[in-house]
Amino acid sequence: MLILAIETSCDETGVALVSGGRVLSNVVASQMKLHEEYGGVVPELATREHLKNLLPVAHEALRLADAKPADVDAVAATRGPGLPPALMIGLKAGQGMAFALDRPFIGIHHHEAHLYSPWITGDPPRAEFERFEPNVSLIVSGGHTLLVHVEAELRHRVIGGTIDDAAGECFDKTAKLIGLPYPGGPQMDRLAGEGNPDAYEFPRPLLYQPNDDFSFSGLKTSVRYFLEKNPGLLADAQKVRDLCASVQQAIVEVLVKKTLGAARRLGVRCVTASGGVSCNLSLRRELAAACARDKLHLRLSDPQLSTDNAAMIGVLAERRLLAGETATGLDEEIKAGWVLA
Ligand code: KG4
Ligand code: ZN
Repeated sequence: MLILAIETSCDETGVALVSGGRVLSNVVASQMKLHEEYGGVVPELATREHLKNLLPVAHEALRLADAKPADVDAVAATRGPGLPPALMIGLKAGQGMAFALDRPFIGIHHHEAHLYSPWITGDPPRAEFERFEPNVSLIVSGGHTLLVHVEAELRHRVIGGTIDDAAGECFDKTAKLIGLPYPGGPQMDRLAGEGNPDAYEFPRPLLYQPNDDFSFSGLKTSVRYFLEKNPGLLADAQKVRDLCASVQQAIVEVLVKKTLGAARRLGVRCVTASGGVSCNLSLRRELAAACARDKLHLRLSDPQLSTDNAAMIGVLAERRLLAGETATGLDEEIKAGWVLA
């Protein structure tokens, strides 16, 4: 089965060709530079860029997979959640392609797709479903921080999430206070690598609450107060590195301890992580150390598949079709407040 998958939920225009769990091509046109000067993703601009880029990206994905539109057996697209006008571009293009080719269309939940990117490994990349095991999955991006119990393939239950800011948002907003360009997460990561994480003390929100939820807005506010009390600090490059390392350590400690706590409580033997923040070197290191201590398998998304991409959409779509799921009706639109089962 050859699946053409589309992802346009935020600021990446992605098209991938997937067959038998193999990612034959995975093309992503990132709009990061475009949104940089606004300090965040501007939905209207993102939508226009998707409109401009989607077909060239699709042509390139077909070329790299050495496939023609007529070879495609099914078309998949992210149907939500995301920026509604941006989603609509990929969703409607996918439905249109499916209609023109007389093939089934399948709408995919963006977060559910993130659950499968840690299983895609190797070169050329392939989803290792034969090694699948129940897991607790951490999805950490600029828009979301979720803990999901993946009880079995295609059976997912959200067990916790952020009650305010996402972890990536906390990185980005803190970076902005420090004067770093958008998106600040990767910059914070780089500077933190040369800083002392114990230099300054910041809160670990909800760390000892008996639930799987997160809260990051207070942490960002405490950095703002800290900078107000220490007005000269930003002029000292080493102190800036120490500040980045200290904030990063607070975010990472909460993410790691809550993820491992959930895994222990639910008795799973495997932890996975995906989303842009899962590229963070400290998070990857600390998750690896904690999983080694608890004798858990850890599957981290390849950094290229951590951020938004269509390969994960295609991999999940194929699994759903193989499991007997019927096509999503062409008249179905994005469902508001759509949540994981
Ligand atoms: O998954 P993603 O590309 O897009 C969505 O938000 O959906 O995630 C982007 C987020 C941004 O907040 C960015 O700052 C953060 O991921 N990020 C990082 C790192 N790389 C990306 N945060 C911390 N350390 C990183 N290395
Ligand atoms: Zn995402």
